[in-house]
Parts: sequence; C-alpha cells; structure tokens
Amino acid sequence: MTEKNAGVLWAGRLEEKPERSAFSFQSSIGFDKRMALEDVRGSRAHAAMLGKQGVIAAEDAAALDEALGKIAQGLQTGEVTVDEGAEDVHSFVEGLLTEALGDAGRSVHAGRSRNDQVATDFRLYCKRVGDAVRAALKDTINVLLDRAGEHAETLMAGFTHLQRAQPVTLGHQLTAWAAALSRDAGRFSDALARMDECPLGSGALAGTTLPLDREAVARDLGFARPALNAMDAVADRDFALELAAACAVTQTHLSRFCEDVCLWASEEWAFVDLGEKWSTGSSIMPQKKNPDFAELVRGKTGRVNGNLIALLTVMKGLPYAYNKDLQEDKEALFDSLDTVLANLRVFSGFMGNAVFNKVKMEASCAGGFLEATDVAEYLVKKGMPFRKAHECAAHIVRDCIDKGLKRIGEAGLADLQKHSPLIEADIFAKITPRACVEARNLPGGPAPDEVRRQIAVLRDAARDI
Ligand code: ARG
Repeated sequence: MTEKNAGVLWAGRLEEKPERSAFSFQSSIGFDKRMALEDVRGSRAHAAMLGKQGVIAAEDAAALDEALGKIAQGLQTGEVTVDEGAEDVHSFVEGLLTEALGDAGRSVHAGRSRNDQVATDFRLYCKRVGDAVRAALKDTINVLLDRAGEHAETLMAGFTHLQRAQPVTLGHQLTAWAAALSRDAGRFSDALARMDECPLGSGALAGTTLPLDREAVARDLGFARPALNAMDAVADRDFALELAAACAVTQTHLSRFCEDVCLWASEEWAFVDLGEKWSTGSSIMPQKKNPDFAELVRGKTGRVNGNLIALLTVMKGLPYAYNKDLQEDKEALFDSLDTVLANLRVFSGFMGNAVFNKVKMEASCAGGFLEATDVAEYLVKKGMPFRKAHECAAHIVRDCIDKGLKRIGEAGLADLQKHSPLIEADIFAKITPRACVEARNLPGGPAPDEVRRQIAVLRDAARDI
C-alpha cells in the first residue's frame, strides 16, 4: 500500500487516490455505517469458517474472533467510533482488524468480496429491521382491534364517493383498516422469507477457489441456506425492492386511514377528538387545533413511494453482476423502513388515544336516506325483482325529499304503500340505522357480532406476526 493511497483496499492497483471531494462522492460510510454490527457479524462467521477450513491459521481465526467481538462491543458502547473518512463500512472494519492484528487482520478477506459482503450485510440489516416493522404492524393491528371491539356497536355512516352510503359501525371500519395492515404484515413476512439466503462465499461474482464452507456460514448467520448462484447473489436486490414495495403499500394504507382521521377531526364532521397531546396549534390563529400528526403520516407517503421508484430505477437496465450503482440501494430503503416504523408508532399512538364522538357518528346515519338500500331489499324479500325494487325505493326517496322528510321512516304507511302494496307496517322497524346494521350479519358484514368474529380472526392472525 503506497503512502498516497493509504487506507483503501485497492491501493495495490491504483497508486493515486481520488481527490478528497471525489473520494467522498463515492464513499458510502456516511450511511452504510448503520450496518456496522451486521458487517462485524458477517466477518466473524467468515473468519471462524476460514479457520475451521484451514484457509487461515487457527490462532489467526481466534484472534480475529476476539478482535471482532471487541469491535462489536465498542460500537455498542460508543467506544469505537466510525471513521467517516473510510470508503465504506467494510473497509472500516477490515482496517480496524489490520490495525489491531496486523497480518491476521489482512487475512480476513480471503474468499470474500465487498460485493457478497454488502449483499450479506444488507440482508442481515433488512431481516432485523423488517422484523421490527412486523412487530410495529402487530402492535398497530392490536390497537385498531381494541378500538374496533370497543366500538362494535357505535353506529356511523359508511361512505362511498365521500358521500354517506349506508349505516355501518366504527368497529366495522377500524376492522377494515386492521385487515389491510394484516396483509401488509404478510407482505413483509413473504419478503423476509424469500431473502433468507446467504450471499457470502459468492465473492465478486464467481465464487472462489478456496475451500469455503458456505453452509456453515449461512447457518452461523441465521440464514436458511446459502444463495444458489454467485452471480445472482451479488446482483440481486429483489429483497430491497420487495421491502420497499411492502413499505409503500403499508404507507399508502396509513395515508388513507389518516385522510379519514383528518376529515373526522374537522369541526364539520366532529367524529373524533385527537386530544391535545396528538394535535398542534397555529402560530397566528389562536383557535386552531390541527391534526398535524395524521397529516404528516399521510404526507410521508410521498417519500416512501418515491423510494420504491428510485430503487426500481436504479435496478432498471443494470448489467450483471455488481455495479457501483447498487450502492444507491441503501439510503432509499433505510428511509422507507425508518419512515414506516415511525409512522406506525405515531398512528397507533393517536388511534389508541382518540376519543370518538358517538353522538355525532350516530347522527351521521340520519338524514341521508342511508336506509334506501334496505327498503329495496325489503321489497326483494317480498318477491319484487331487485331492479324494480331499486326504482321503487328511489321514488320513495324522491317523494320524501319533495315532502321535506329526512328519513324514509318519517313517511306514513299509506304514502309508502302508494309506491308498492308489498310494503307493510313491519318496514319501519327494519329501516332504523341499528336495524340496517344488525341485519347485515353475513360474513364480512357490519353487524356487531359479525364484526366481533372478524376481530377474533385478525387477532388470531396477529398472534403469528
Ligand atoms: N459500498 C459498496 C456498496 O454499497 C460496497 C461494495 C463495493 N464493491 C465494489 N466492487 N466497489 O455497494
């Protein structure tokens, strides 16, 4: 290693080093330092295997193990600080080993390339943080299910086209949200299961002539198996794409929930009070209490969806196998994972504390003829074909509007019978908001007992997340 190029791993080939700003342009230490513990873990497994296979001396393997243990500890306590001048986290850790052990440190990279090293570190990181996202999803699902259970009987207008549609319950809607997050947890689990292969031993792209034990390293690092093909192992970033996509779908769900929460928190709807701890004020308008947390969760979706497109674009047209473009994979995914984790915590925080206004919610079921479908179905049950029943109920609604009535139940029986002789006095009990909800007791419906069943199904599924 020349004096000029001291500290880089490729000094033997290039005597000159890029000038400082160019070097820092291509350096990744500023962000891949997050994977320092994963890098140390991978190096430990690799070094131990090199020792067992006789590629390096047993004493060197033991010395490496001890030094790597100390580095891991030092990183955790803060005694070891990352050298921001290093090219990347891999050079930094190898540099520490060489500094501490001399030639034993120089022996650790046998049969390894930074290409398989970074693919391994990144997968280990994704497995760790992916599990944290799954845990946060589980917590959030449970918060929503708790609230859904409390409000299985709380009547509320359900909306389509942002127009009041049919009576449901708050519990029905919160369970819908939990169902979406439950699928998200499944997406993370699927991605994590598919990425459970260890790239180490793939080298730069073509493996190695050294007698490595790839199975042992994979086992040691907690992977299900070694990656099948060395070229695929260093070129593949499907795992990052899949996680970025799972983050984008989750965040898109959160943005939709938060849009509803923002509407519900408005004075016009007044369905929910988020409380002072989960609101912020205005610098000019003294009266304001804004749902900034829900707005920001909604807004953060922009960056998470952007990260997915950024990653897809980095991968598009990239020739096999490794190219430095792949270094661009990390910041995008780190940001998506950080954002989703933080957003799940904030969302479950304000949802757990939200105070729902049952009176306002119930009032939203009155006055919009939300029972019109129930009138049509009443007629169907009496033998009328649905299309005719739909028309008949529509005429009843028009008639009520003309008469200034707010609900079909306010009309007299004789007036209703003018539209169809099939209508009898029993209709009135069947078209109150509560009756409309309770009669919808098929699987998937909003009837309180049915929603309680749905809650139990999702609760069971959450146990396995
Ligand atoms: N910092 C690099 C990355 O994140 C590590 C791999 C470098 N490999 C190489 N052949 N330059 O991808």
